[in-house]
Amino acid sequence: MASLAARATRVTALGRKSMFTTSTASRALNTHATSYTLNTGAKIPALGFGTFQDPDSQEDTVSLALQKGMRLIDTARVYNVEEQVGKGIKKSGIPRKEIFVSTKLWCNDYHPNDVERAVDDSLRDLDTPYVDLLLMHYPCTFKRGPDRFPRDADGRMVAGETTYLDTWKAMEKVTRTGKVKAIGVSNFSRGEISTLINGSSTVPAVHQMEVHPYLQQKGFNEWLQTKGIHVVQFSPLGNMNDFYRQTGWSKEISHMMRVIDQPILKEIGQKYGKSPVQVVLAWGINSGRSVIPKSVVDWQIEENLAAHFELQREDMAQIATLDAKARFNDPSLDYEWRLYSDLEGIDGTMRGKTH
Ligand SMILES: NC(=O)c1ccc[n+]([C@@H]2O[C@H](COP(=O)([O-])OP(=O)(O)OC[C@H]3O[C@@H](n4cnc5c(N)ncnc54)[C@H](OP(=O)(O)O)[C@@H]3O)[C@@H](O)[C@H]2O)c1
Repeated sequence: MASLAARATRVTALGRKSMFTTSTASRALNTHATSYTLNTGAKIPALGFGTFQDPDSQEDTVSLALQKGMRLIDTARVYNVEEQVGKGIKKSGIPRKEIFVSTKLWCNDYHPNDVERAVDDSLRDLDTPYVDLLLMHYPCTFKRGPDRFPRDADGRMVAGETTYLDTWKAMEKVTRTGKVKAIGVSNFSRGEISTLINGSSTVPAVHQMEVHPYLQQKGFNEWLQTKGIHVVQFSPLGNMNDFYRQTGWSKEISHMMRVIDQPILKEIGQKYGKSPVQVVLAWGINSGRSVIPKSVVDWQIEENLAAHFELQREDMAQIATLDAKARFNDPSLDYEWRLYSDLEGIDGTMRGKTH
């Protein structure tokens, strides 16, 4: 593996630098300072904080995470936590301009005439004049209206009448208002991202997608890099989130041995005095991606913050052997949309409602 210093100067096919802006190869990198440059020129931290679930804890944990050094907060309209996240940001006392806030548009607000109003709703709840990044949460469009999961009499999701490309163009317009600094996508396939690139004038700044040692998506990650699209890994700890064990989205595979219980990760961690969780997060960062672990437990937040260290080439190679192509987040059947159609790890979902 190239050293962090060498990778800091790697340039993508579009001529944009998307690697670390810090250039030290030390193992004790400064979490606050370590970031990547997006294709907009803005910086995004390598280590961030997820806010899916546990709404009652989010105000305090967001505040704590920021005070301890996190500078990237990931949320979404559909998580129903934007208000708590906004309060947490205020409570932390950290100036807004020092924080990278990312939220996501939900599928019932994809009609072009709804997009700016939906952004306004998020900004109101987050109590901020702008977000640093707005993502389209999934490529599937649901019927417009207040119901986030509009279903017909048989319980099947009702699709919207516009396409994700229409939504993307509306998101492009919102960037001109200053309410949104950058736009990106989440849970898209390669073909769907190509449709956006070919049909609009904006290359997504970010693709937020499931990546962890059990779902490494090497080829897709390389392709995204050639396009200048920065990857943010969601569920970076793999099947750690109980949500995946409770849904039918990933069938039996969510009951595989937890990623962090893989003995090889423990072995690698011992070399560096780090835990398997820290090794998994460092693997993502050493691969040039951001990671957004979620936790509501103080010591875990601290552990995650200390997950930024350089892994040696042989350790990266060992972790590569864990790629089971196991995708845990696949609501294709529920959302009536064949997600990830040209990507790895799409077997094993079951029909079933989770919302
Ligand atoms: N774009 C999308 O469609 C999408 C999908 C899923 C997630 N996301 C984003 O990605 C974030 C992270 O994903 P995720 O929540 O699914 O999974 P995750 O961060 O990989 O795992 C979360 C689970 O790991 C536990 N955990 C965290 N740090 C730990 C540590 N140091 N030691 C032991 N356990 C630890 C948490 O426990 P506690 O909660 O008990 O602390 C929680 O059960 C979300 O919060 C959300 O912001 C986006």
